[in-house]
Amino acid sequence: MDRKEAEAYLRLDPARLPKHIAIIMDGNGRWARRRHMPRVAGHRAGVTAVRSTVETAARIGIPALTLYAFSEENWKKRPRTEVDFLMRLLCRYLKAEIKTLNQNNIRLEYIGRKHELPELVQREMEYASEATSRNRGMILTLALNYSARSEIVDAFRSLAEAAARNGGLQHFEVDEQLISEHLYTRGLPDPDLVVRTSGEMRLSNFLLWQLAYAEIYVTQTLWPDFRGVHLLEGIEEFQKRERRYGGLGKDHEHAPVRAQAEAKR
Ligand code: FPP
Repeated sequence: MDRKEAEAYLRLDPARLPKHIAIIMDGNGRWARRRHMPRVAGHRAGVTAVRSTVETAARIGIPALTLYAFSEENWKKRPRTEVDFLMRLLCRYLKAEIKTLNQNNIRLEYIGRKHELPELVQREMEYASEATSRNRGMILTLALNYSARSEIVDAFRSLAEAAARNGGLQHFEVDEQLISEHLYTRGLPDPDLVVRTSGEMRLSNFLLWQLAYAEIYVTQTLWPDFRGVHLLEGIEEFQKRERRYGGLGKDHEHAPVRAQAEAKR
């Protein structure tokens, strides 16, 4: 941890760290354009940001970190050359990072329609997750070829199959818990903090079910400039927020008592 990170860490309450942080990494293209560089240079620089963020999150004891690396839409709407570059970059990252992930006790997992990715990439993904599967520290999930709506479609399919296997719809009862268990993120707590870089105020089809109650932190910092210290700043902001889950919050803590007293008057 460098000095700035250590200072930012001291401002945090270690007892109230988020259990799961999700990050929409955005702004690689703009970062490159500002430097008159090709877009892919922004993606390459983005890997340094990934490393710093992952290491800081693991060191301070965040149980789960999920990074939105490529959306399903990214494939369809970006030039082939850029997509190919991203694939190669991912493969290189997976190969190079296993050692550091193991040193930091991080387990690597994925969400998204894996089977639609190039076979070579799938093999690297499998190898890296297997090589880190015995780690029991932070779970790092990479969202690759991910779309929240596709995830929900896949959950419906899997629910329908489960119903068919268990005697049809007659005895089939659905609740939130069951739906969560059929999402790609089964086993992970819902993120309590979602970070988006580069100032955009959108969820962009990311974890739509799971982010229902998440605090949203948007920073102007472009992804390639993002570092562990920025993550800590996001957590600091998170700790200042009051999470109400649809209730009234602290200012209204005595509201029911007050309402009763007023009703009696
Ligand atoms: C968004 O920036 C970023 C992406 C679509 C790719 C994210 C990839 C990385 C950070 C590097 C590789 C990741 C891993 C996990 C090794 P953008 O291109 O949409 O930026 P713009 O909105 O400024 O154009």
